[in-house]
Amino acid sequence: MSAPLLAGRAVLVTGSSRGIGAAIARACAREGARVAITFRESEGAACELAAELGGTLCTRLDVTRRASVRRALDAVLERWGRLDILVNNAGTLEQKPFLEITEDEWDATLAVNLRGAFLCIQEAARAFERQGSGAIVNVASVGGQLGGPKAPHYSASKAGLISLTRSTARLFAPSGVRVNAVSPGFIRTDMYEHITAGAAGDAITAAIPLGRVGEPEDVAEAVVFLASDRAAFVTGEVLNVNGGQYMG
Ligand code: NAI
Repeated sequence: MSAPLLAGRAVLVTGSSRGIGAAIARACAREGARVAITFRESEGAACELAAELGGTLCTRLDVTRRASVRRALDAVLERWGRLDILVNNAGTLEQKPFLEITEDEWDATLAVNLRGAFLCIQEAARAFERQGSGAIVNVASVGGQLGGPKAPHYSASKAGLISLTRSTARLFAPSGVRVNAVSPGFIRTDMYEHITAGAAGDAITAAIPLGRVGEPEDVAEAVVFLASDRAAFVTGEVLNVNGGQYMG
C-alpha cells in the first residue's frame, strides 16, 4: 500500500461543516493530515465531523472578517506549530437577474468568494513564507470560466479567484509555495439544490459528457492531489472537475 499523501500535514479548510468542504476535510484526514475544520455558523455539524475524523481542530472562521481569519490561523499555529495547506472552499451563490442585483448583493458575494480568499491567503502567507513551503488550493467554479447569466456576480467572483490563483502562484513560487485551483461543475450539495431548483435533472446531465452530476468526493480527490507532493511541479493550474462540461 502506498504512503498517505498528506501524512502529518496541517490543513485548514474554509467552510468545511458541509458539502464539498466537508468532503475535502474527510479526504485530507484519510490521507494522514491534521485538519482544521472551520465553520461560520454550523458549529454542531463542524465539530461532529471533527470528532469523527480525530486529530482535528474545530474553529469558527468567517472569511469576510480579517480578525476571524487571523484567530482561526492562530488556533492552527498554536495547536500544530505550522500550516502546510490552505483550502479556500467557502463560497456563496445567489441566483438573480442581472438588472436586479443590488450593489450590496454584489459586494456580499464578492466579499465571501473573492475577498475572503484574498484575506485567507494574505494571512496564511506569513506562516508559509516563514516555513519556506506551503500549498493553497482555491475552489473556483465552471461559472468563472464559462460565465453564468443566472448569477453573474458569483461567476465574476470565481473568475477573479482564478486570476488571484495565478497571481499568487507567480508571487509565492520563489518562497516554495504552490497555488492552484479546482474548478467544479455541477456537484451534488446544498448549493447544487439551490442552483437547480425547478430545473429538469435530464437537462443538466445532458450538458455533462460523463453523463452524471459530480459528488463532493470527486472535488476532494482533485484537491488532495493538488495539495500533495504528487503535484510538486504544478502551480497556477486550474483543474476542471466537471465531467467534461467545459474543457479548457
Ligand atoms: P455549500 O453551500 O454546501 O457550502 C458552502 C460553505 O461555505 C458552507 O459551509 C458555508 O457555511 C461556507 N460559507 C459561506 N459563507 C462563508 C463565510 N463568510 N465564511 C466562512 N464560510 C462561509 O456549497 P458547496 O457546493 O459545498 O460549495 C463549496 C464550494 O464549491 C464553494 O466555493 C462553491 O462556490 C464551489 N462550487 C460548488 C459547485 C456545486 O455545484 N455545488 C459548483 C462549483 C463551485
